[in-house]
Amino acid sequence: MTEPLIPRGRAEPAPGVVHVPGWLEPEARARLVRACREWARPPAGLAVTRLPGGGVMSVRSVSLGWQWVPYRYVRTAPDGAPVKPFPGWLGDLGRRAVTEAYGPAAAHDYAPDVALVNFYAPGAHMALHQDKDELTDAPVVSLSLGEACLFRLGNTEIRGRPWQDLRLDSGDLLVFGGPSRFVYHGVPKTLAGTADPAAGLREGRLNITIRVTGLGGGRDGGG
Ligand code: SIN
Ligand code: MN
Repeated sequence: MTEPLIPRGRAEPAPGVVHVPGWLEPEARARLVRACREWARPPAGLAVTRLPGGGVMSVRSVSLGWQWVPYRYVRTAPDGAPVKPFPGWLGDLGRRAVTEAYGPAAAHDYAPDVALVNFYAPGAHMALHQDKDELTDAPVVSLSLGEACLFRLGNTEIRGRPWQDLRLDSGDLLVFGGPSRFVYHGVPKTLAGTADPAAGLREGRLNITIRVTGLGGGRDGGG
């Protein structure tokens, strides 16, 4: 990807939300895309998520460590296979991201155990929601790869305005924690024509969120 004419700088669009454009170097982007391709393979590969109302989400997803299903974490993927492990190197990357956002003290105890990989084919989107199925308030680390998107950063009170729209590009880091850990957020659209072929994605967008479930190493969470 060619570098933008005017480099975009680090921003804190809300308290506890840190956006670092271009945080991932091209080689790191390509490595993550290669890893996503591996994780996407069956068993326990990329799958649609069925919603309780009968619909399906427009993104396709693969979970590592724990499987997120609306609205809890379980150990089994939608195809019945055991969820793929959460790799140690991804946890290290999450800790580096938290260090980048909040400094080394915040990252000291940050021990993520789950990652959700969402693939946005052209036209996919994600409605405003909170990440609130975790039992901790540890920060969420979000990495974007491929096509850029409009990321809607709402408020912590209601699923609606006020919100602000940010653009997330391939390689961008977004961390939300502290007072914004339970902020409403969503992706109204990806931006056609912004692919990052050097990262290995000719079209579509990948988003990886790294999280701490707070569930420990034991049984399935929730009911
Ligand atoms: C999510 O909220 O799980 C995904 C956000 C994104 O795709 O940037
Ligand atoms: Mn989310």
